[in-house]
Amino acid sequence: MTDEKKVLFSGMQPSGYVTLGNYLGALNNWTTLQYDYNSIFCIVDMHALTVRQDPAKLRKAARDVLMQYLAVGLDPEKNIIYFQSHVPQHAELSWILNCYTYMGELNRMTQFKEKSQKHADNINAGLFTYPVLMAADILLYQTELVPVGEDQIQHLEITRDIATRFNGIYGDVFTMPEAYIGKTGARVMALQDPTKKMSKSDENANNTIAILDDPKQIINKFKRAVTDSGNEIIYSDDKPGIKNLLSIYCAVTGKTIKEAEKEFENSGYGDFKIAVGEAVVAKIEPIQKKFEEYQKNKDYIDEIIKTGAEKAERIAEKTMRKVRRKIGYPDKIR
Ligand code: TYM
Repeated sequence: MTDEKKVLFSGMQPSGYVTLGNYLGALNNWTTLQYDYNSIFCIVDMHALTVRQDPAKLRKAARDVLMQYLAVGLDPEKNIIYFQSHVPQHAELSWILNCYTYMGELNRMTQFKEKSQKHADNINAGLFTYPVLMAADILLYQTELVPVGEDQIQHLEITRDIATRFNGIYGDVFTMPEAYIGKTGARVMALQDPTKKMSKSDENANNTIAILDDPKQIINKFKRAVTDSGNEIIYSDDKPGIKNLLSIYCAVTGKTIKEAEKEFENSGYGDFKIAVGEAVVAKIEPIQKKFEEYQKNKDYIDEIIKTGAEKAERIAEKTMRKVRRKIGYPDKIR
């Protein structure tokens, strides 16, 4: 890593499949930003534990997410790509920051409220303190930029609040991070219910596109996507279905909304939906091919996992040395 560049950090949970929402809201932006920053991309397997996971599936999903990071074009030579659980400093800093975070702050988190409704039988303490672990992820690496989808903005705000409080007591220990939200694709909505976000954990598979979905299935899901009354293809809040499809189309093709509206001026909803599906397939088919290649290359992936953790730990430990001293832990005798 070179020192002149600023640090970029982001992560994704290995729970379920990587969705088109994850891709357009996060991954796609990471690939364009990666060379302008010292970039660190984490697979946040510790966060995934807040919901009950099948161990074998979690282990596989974590590896699959890593291979999808590579398949979308993240460069493992240039960036650090690693599993959160391989770097114990995340847990260590998270505990410390828990002691600098108020219950009231965590109580306000909308994701906590949503997830505790969804998993009413398992509202564990980890779910509640999830944003503190996320703050630890970011602050450990002296991160300046955090490219995420819109749903993570509140978590970035609490991270900044925790960092401000900590720095206020101990001096400038942490760099103040900022969220980066892309212009398109920051909030991809569910295909069957465009008033709610597309989510990996949705039980209705027709709501979500996974980037590893079969191309035929992708087109079918778009064909079935809910549209709105009327027949105009325009970007408007009264037409959440069409608005979502137009956003997806523009995010995958790089076209502007105006250009897309013009292009589909004389089309019906049916043709439009197929066109969106085809554009998505064109964008993700090459990713699927690369993913298949990585699957065959176990040693190469193992090497990335190993070196990623080593590099990440070195940086994280540097921050932790400072933090331990500042808060008054006794020095280790070596
Ligand atoms: P996760 O795993 O839910 O999602 C990963 C990324 O995808 C974005 N995203 C979306 N963007 C647009 N439309 C959607 N429908 C959509 N769904 C998801 C998310 O905003 C995110 O950027 N807490 C985080 C993971 C995390 C993290 C971090 C992120 C843990 N530590 C530190 C950044 C920095 C999460 O659950 O993301």
